[in-house]
Amino acid sequence: GQHGDLTGRRVIVTAGGTQEPIDPVRYVGNRSSGKMGYNLAAEARDRGAHVILVSGPVALPPPFGVELHPVDTAIQMRDAVRDFITDADALIMSAAVADFRPTRVAEQKIKKHGDKSTGQNGEGRFTIDLVSNPDILGELAMALKGDGDVRDVHAGGSIPQLKRRLIRVGFAAETEHLVEHAQEKLQRKQLDLLVANDVSRSDSGFGTDTNKVLIFHADGTMEDLPVMPKTGVAAAIWDRVVPLLG
Ligand code: PMT
Repeated sequence: GQHGDLTGRRVIVTAGGTQEPIDPVRYVGNRSSGKMGYNLAAEARDRGAHVILVSGPVALPPPFGVELHPVDTAIQMRDAVRDFITDADALIMSAAVADFRPTRVAEQKIKKHGDKSTGQNGEGRFTIDLVSNPDILGELAMALKGDGDVRDVHAGGSIPQLKRRLIRVGFAAETEHLVEHAQEKLQRKQLDLLVANDVSRSDSGFGTDTNKVLIFHADGTMEDLPVMPKTGVAAAIWDRVVPLLG
């Protein structure tokens, strides 16, 4: 890492997967371990940044010298990001945010032999109805374009006014058509950088200590990085964010 090149900067990193409750004991989740995000947070700290780490439930120890804000759900993650966005210089979303959540959360543990109201369909089948979660980066892109309508689509208030230009970095976890999907996400979410990891490889993506990424820039260029420890990927990402901070 480049010593001190983030001194005086405030950065937000999201990490881990969100957990969307079904009932008091069950959730819909994904395989994110938080390793990519925690490495990004530690690297930014080492370079002098004030780091806000918004993390889903993970098994990792809290990084020393980082402001940790634990959340469970996508909506909580969205609200936490909004709380800190006003005077942030950069937002890196390495969290695997659930695209959907159960439409309603059962107040009591759902029984194996329950009634229709809890999702029982009879004949050994069970249905969980899902509804879209807010797209955290997507909403931000809309708000920054001045497309005010979308701000209040998902109850929870609007996006606060930003005090400075916010560099936004997204990730893409893809199992196929990596380049096409990544370019589409960079465009749609109006990102400065998009880091695409091939999650079909055994040495890359969810849970691994290494990652194999492509970095897409807003100007349409793309870099193909070799497999590296997630510490190295984190450093490479900050190396590319620093020049954008101005
Ligand atoms: O935690 P690890 O085990 O180390 O694994 C790291 C990782 C594979 C989870 C990470 O490198 C990664 O790829 N994270 C993003 C995974 C993902 O959810 O990608 P996506 O293609 O669904 O989302 C695209 C981008 O939009 C992401 O930056 C995501 O944080 C963001 N997003 C997604 C959904 C949503 N509702 N709101 C969002 O802002």
